[in-house]
Amino acid sequence: MRRLTLPLMALGFGGACAAESQSVFHPSGEGAADINRLQVWVFGAAGVVGVIVAALIIYCLVRFRRRANDEESPEPIQVHGNLRLEIGWTIVPALILSVVAAATMVSLFNLSERPNDATHIKVFGQQWWWSYEYDLDDDGESEIVTANDLVIPVDREVVLDLTSRDVIHSFWIPSLAGTKDVVPGRWHELPIQASRPGVYEGQCKEFCGLSHANMRARVVAVEEDEFEQWVDEQRDAAKVPSDPVAVEGKKQFETLLCAQCHQIRGVNDGLEVSRDLLVSQHAPDLTHFASRGVFASGMFALYEEDGTVNRAALEAWLRDPPDELPMAADHQPYRGMPTLNLTEDQIDQLVAYLTSLGPKPPTSSEERR
Ligand code: CUA
Repeated sequence: MRRLTLPLMALGFGGACAAESQSVFHPSGEGAADINRLQVWVFGAAGVVGVIVAALIIYCLVRFRRRANDEESPEPIQVHGNLRLEIGWTIVPALILSVVAAATMVSLFNLSERPNDATHIKVFGQQWWWSYEYDLDDDGESEIVTANDLVIPVDREVVLDLTSRDVIHSFWIPSLAGTKDVVPGRWHELPIQASRPGVYEGQCKEFCGLSHANMRARVVAVEEDEFEQWVDEQRDAAKVPSDPVAVEGKKQFETLLCAQCHQIRGVNDGLEVSRDLLVSQHAPDLTHFASRGVFASGMFALYEEDGTVNRAALEAWLRDPPDELPMAADHQPYRGMPTLNLTEDQIDQLVAYLTSLGPKPPTSSEERR
């Protein structure tokens, strides 16, 4: 299958990105496996038909081409209709398509199954990032609000309830499940399940504005006990820094514009900020920022391979976000994070504070799929 993957991707199958981790041909979840089983043999059958048709066309082109002495040769025998051929080329495609339709129906029914005990996670799309809310005790209040990394337990059935806060997006993790459009004013369901721990990458699949191509998605699948530990940590209020530089960073967060859009649970509560901005989630909740593997719509890794903070990327982001992630054409007022003209000292302090927020990401997230 691997040998087939690259040529297929070149043809536009399997997504816009050639990353192995975004291949629909390497399913790691039931939904994706179902889709893959269907597409592999449908593609095979279509390939055989395609080769036969192409061969017949080439044969006719060569066999009946115009020859030098055609002027003298008599006109070919004129025929009209051939009952046996016509019945044949009606029945054979009808049979093939019936089998494809039946198999597709089976897959559709499988994919639409919703286990009753599934864990529901709310997914909000907005220009140009994803936020996730977990209401674990089903009381209508989300205990966990996070962004960019969607953490799920391995082997458990998860149903994503998706909606959008602005325009239409589409959520797609190719190796875990099919795609689902994310539409403002509507809730769509997408069952998703990972059979192995690891990081599964995906992206927004519906053109949604300037940084559509940068609107990445990431699922971090972890073992059940690791998930429980992650949940416990995420439920806590934000860590209070002790390092003096980070303490200064917290002050910057509170006094600069940051706290007007970003929520850090336990920090904004006492501040004079517009609740509307926080409620509408104009910006990612940063309560446990350091527990995520990526930031800025998943564009940048928060940690280097050796586990140290990717300071350069985080500093560059704070220095000039629109330069790192295009948010408006021609420097018009944009969505997303503005340039705050921070001093290098302020940037250092904010980096120290942000990276003190929360534990490191779950360990299995080092394994990329
Ligand atoms: Cu969101 Cu494309």
